[in-house]
Amino acid sequence: MAHSGVPKDGGELRIHENVDELATDLADYIAELSEISVKERGFFAIALSGGSLISLMGKLCEAPYNKTVDWAKWYIFWADERVVAKNHVDSNYKLAKDGLLSKVPVVPGHVYSINDSLSAEEAANEYEFVLRQLVKTRTVAVSEISDCPKFDVILLGMGPDGHVASLFPNHMALNEKDEWVTFITDSPKPPPERITFTLPVINSASNVAVVVTGANKAEAVHLAIDNMGPECPMLPARMVCPTNGKLVWFLDRASASKLEDSQCTK
Ligand code: 6PG
Repeated sequence: MAHSGVPKDGGELRIHENVDELATDLADYIAELSEISVKERGFFAIALSGGSLISLMGKLCEAPYNKTVDWAKWYIFWADERVVAKNHVDSNYKLAKDGLLSKVPVVPGHVYSINDSLSAEEAANEYEFVLRQLVKTRTVAVSEISDCPKFDVILLGMGPDGHVASLFPNHMALNEKDEWVTFITDSPKPPPERITFTLPVINSASNVAVVVTGANKAEAVHLAIDNMGPECPMLPARMVCPTNGKLVWFLDRASASKLEDSQCTK
């Protein structure tokens, strides 16, 4: 690892020399969380996002992880999904299936993709309903503080505008306090219709990883992590702050290039 540290307001920074090194560290991190959760709870409830994250998780399909991870105990969810057919090129489910899930022995019945025959609103409501059943049986743990699901890990990417999941800057969905899953029909990043976990759910997770690469994200990384006083714009990524969990930022050199040095302990 090129550099690691703890930003002043919590969370861990893992800054890697290159994307390959980051991908190895990410696979190690996920494999380790899986092992801990399976040992402690008998299940591993993991929520994925779309975008470059899935290819960065690719090492999980290779040795040793493909053999050592207890795939049968994985329960897979989406922190956000585009409201398109499951076989559509824009589907986050399809991205994860083609890039990861079809290459490892996960149990098909443990893969919780959205119902693609519904409207965005209906799909969000149904996804929340399904989650509520799984929280009742503790397949997904429950937060001791809120009644929210407590995912073993939620994996997020971040857009150059600082969005995470489908929570975009200045969007009303950022204020949602009651729902676990909400919907939007005006996403600035196409396609427009999406469902997304709300901030209370993201911030109730045991672990949240934000995985970001590339120089085009450097400004957003700076705005999301550095302490810049009251003037600092409230990027969605800056609002990711697990109440009783652990936040890790996986960055490459390029995306970390605008971070203030004082944020890291070498
Ligand atoms: C989506 C995503 C979204 C994504 C970021 C980063 O469905 O669009 O879940 O939140 O993670 O936009 O995407 P990239 O890593 O491809 O830039």
